[in-house]
Amino acid sequence: MVGQVLNRFSCVGTAVMLLAVVATGVAVAQQRPVDWVALNPAFAGATRVNDREQCTPCHTDVMETFTSTRHARAFRHASMPEGGECESCHGPRSKHVEEPNDSLAWSRLTARQQSAVCLQCHEGGARLAFKNGPHLSAEVSCTSCHFVMETRSERALLAKESAPATCYQCHSDVRGQMFKASHHPVREGRMDCASCHNSHGSTRALLTRTTVNDTCVSCHAEKRGPFVWEHAPVRESCLNCHDSHGSNNSNLLTSKGAFLCMQCHSYGGHVNLPRYNRVSSPLASGCVNCHLAPHGSNHPSGAKLTR
Ligand code: HEC
Ligand code: HEC
Ligand code: HEC
Ligand code: HEC
Ligand code: HEC
Ligand code: HEC
Ligand code: HEC
Ligand code: HEC
Ligand code: HEC
Ligand code: HEC
Repeated sequence: MVGQVLNRFSCVGTAVMLLAVVATGVAVAQQRPVDWVALNPAFAGATRVNDREQCTPCHTDVMETFTSTRHARAFRHASMPEGGECESCHGPRSKHVEEPNDSLAWSRLTARQQSAVCLQCHEGGARLAFKNGPHLSAEVSCTSCHFVMETRSERALLAKESAPATCYQCHSDVRGQMFKASHHPVREGRMDCASCHNSHGSTRALLTRTTVNDTCVSCHAEKRGPFVWEHAPVRESCLNCHDSHGSNNSNLLTSKGAFLCMQCHSYGGHVNLPRYNRVSSPLASGCVNCHLAPHGSNHPSGAKLTR
């Protein structure tokens, strides 16, 4: 069969290449090889050609761009245990080489099947929970976020030039939030979606930590506490007062100035006196002009969060 293809394309160097690939380097581990026929019956009867040179005559353009990717570099130094580099993701291609058509196309696999192909080598670590996570459940596969045939992003072979651009393909509402006056500096490139989210996970809102507060205080450590004088809603969740992505109120607050506090503190006393609950004070928040420590206080007389 190899002979046939050689004749067809007169690729004299091919046999030499094949030997070179088998002879060199460490193995790229395929911990869980997939059953290609089970994924797509059209693979029945096909075997691995184990030789990228046989793809060259028809796929020069794609192979050219592929050369710059992390995969191409990793595979170049490795002997592929069960086939050539291309076939570890594209399955056994002997039939395709002889009779090219799109019956083995990637798009014919479901999101779960596509992911199984990648998980051959990438199960574990950050992706342990991917199979039970909200993305795969919604038919979002590895290749919804990653494009592996060329390098488009600085790292992680993302489908777009950056993580935010990749996510905004589907989460355009978050893009809008990031354009509000007060926002986490994602647009400025000082952090990105992956600073708070593990897209491969299955925890609530795919956060990098188990809870909202653990995620927030991983950067804002001074808000972690415990404080001598705690403020109950802070312990419960930062999101009682803050939006995580963006807000048109200062400091990512969910509402403006005194209104924020008065959602919970609306009983009598000074709280209801106009001079205490002005919304448009110079500091834009009437209450925190005096209650300087809304997150909790360690001052001996800070019980009312005034210092
Ligand atoms: C790490 C996995 C992986 C490897 C290795 C790989 N590919 Fe791909 N390739 C893909 C995926 C996934 C797609 C589908 C991309 C998409 O549509 O999102 C694809 C798409 C293609 C396409 C269609 C491109 C188009 O623009 O329509 C060709 C042709 C192709 N690959 C050939 C090859 C060849 C030849 C090799 C070896 C040099 C190779 N691939 C190596 C995963 C891989
Ligand atoms: C004789 C030419 C020829 C050879 C050799 C060849 N292909 Fe193809 N291949 C094609 C053609 C033509 C198509 C497009 C079929 C279509 O879209 O109808 C294609 C499509 C593909 C696709 C895209 C299907 C998709 O996912 O959308 C992949 C992947 C691919 N080939 C991989 C390979 C690999 C890997 C090799 C080497 C082992 C190889 N091909 C060898 C002609 C060839
Ligand atoms: C045959 C094993 C194998 C398969 C199958 C495979 N990969 Fe990889 N992948 C690797 C290796 C090896 C590396 C390089 C790891 C390193 O250099 O530390 C890598 C690296 C990556 C990286 C990191 C790139 C970077 O620049 O940081 C991403 C993202 C990735 N693979 C995604 C995928 C996706 C998506 C698929 C399925 C379309 C896939 N891989 C299929 C072996 C594989
Ligand atoms: C919803 C989008 C999304 C999906 C789906 C997704 N990834 Fe990722 N992946 C990312 C982002 C974003 C990064 C970069 C993370 C960072 O910057 O730390 C990444 C990083 C990676 C890396 C390199 C860093 C590492 O953890 O080793 C690999 C490998 C990888 N992904 C493989 C996969 C595989 C395999 C799948 C499918 C099982 C998958 N990804 C599904 C968005 C996604
Ligand atoms: C191909 C479309 C697509 C892409 C790309 C995508 N997502 Fe998603 N994402 C979804 C869908 C669909 C859901 C599940 C339905 C929903 O909650 O909207 C989801 C859910 C989520 C959730 C909510 C999970 C929950 O438990 O409520 C978060 C957080 C998320 N995605 C973050 C990201 C990040 C970060 C990226 C980029 C690295 C990204 N997504 C890329 C489609 C996508
Ligand atoms: C500073 C941390 C942080 C950053 C940065 C961040 N998120 Fe979030 N995101 C969160 C938190 C916390 C939640 C949970 C909100 C909740 O539970 O109500 C969330 C919720 C989500 C959700 C689900 C609920 C919704 O609002 O639709 C999506 C989707 C999402 N984020 C996408 C993104 C994308 C895309 C990016 C990058 C552009 C991003 N996030 C950047 C912290 C962050
Ligand atoms: C990966 C680190 C990181 C995480 C996690 C993080 N932040 Fe931030 N946060 C920042 C950075 C960086 C800034 C910008 C600070 C600056 O401009 O000096 C910021 C700014 C803020 C601001 C002030 C915004 C303004 O307009 O001045 C608030 C409020 C805030 N974060 C709350 C949160 C909350 C709530 C969470 C959890 C949902 C969180 N942060 C998670 C890094 C982080
Ligand atoms: C009870 C409401 C409330 C809760 C809950 C809350 N905050 Fe705040 N936060 C505020 C107010 C009000 C400001 C503005 C303070 C000012 O104007 O001086 C603020 C400001 C901030 C700032 C920017 C200014 C600064 O002090 O650094 C950060 C960062 C911040 N909060 C993080 C957090 C984190 C992290 C949590 C959860 C652990 C949290 N907040 C929970 C009310 C709250
Ligand atoms: C989500 C509800 C909520 C919000 C919003 C909120 N608080 Fe509180 N606050 C509480 C709860 C609950 C307590 C504990 C009440 C208790 O122990 O009797 C508390 C306690 C306090 C105390 C101490 C009261 C005492 O009698 O010791 C002060 C002062 C206070 N809050 C000020 C503020 C200020 C200022 C804001 C706005 C920045 C604010 N709170 C926003 C729920 C909230
Ligand atoms: C001019 C300063 C000032 C302003 C403005 C102010 N407070 Fe106070 N607040 C105090 C002082 C002083 C105390 C009592 C402290 C003590 O007893 O040690 C107090 C006590 C409280 C208490 C504890 C229960 C009580 O009534 O004694 C709450 C709750 C409270 N303030 C909420 C608010 C809220 C909500 C706002 C905004 C609408 C606000 N405060 C505006 C100075 C202020």
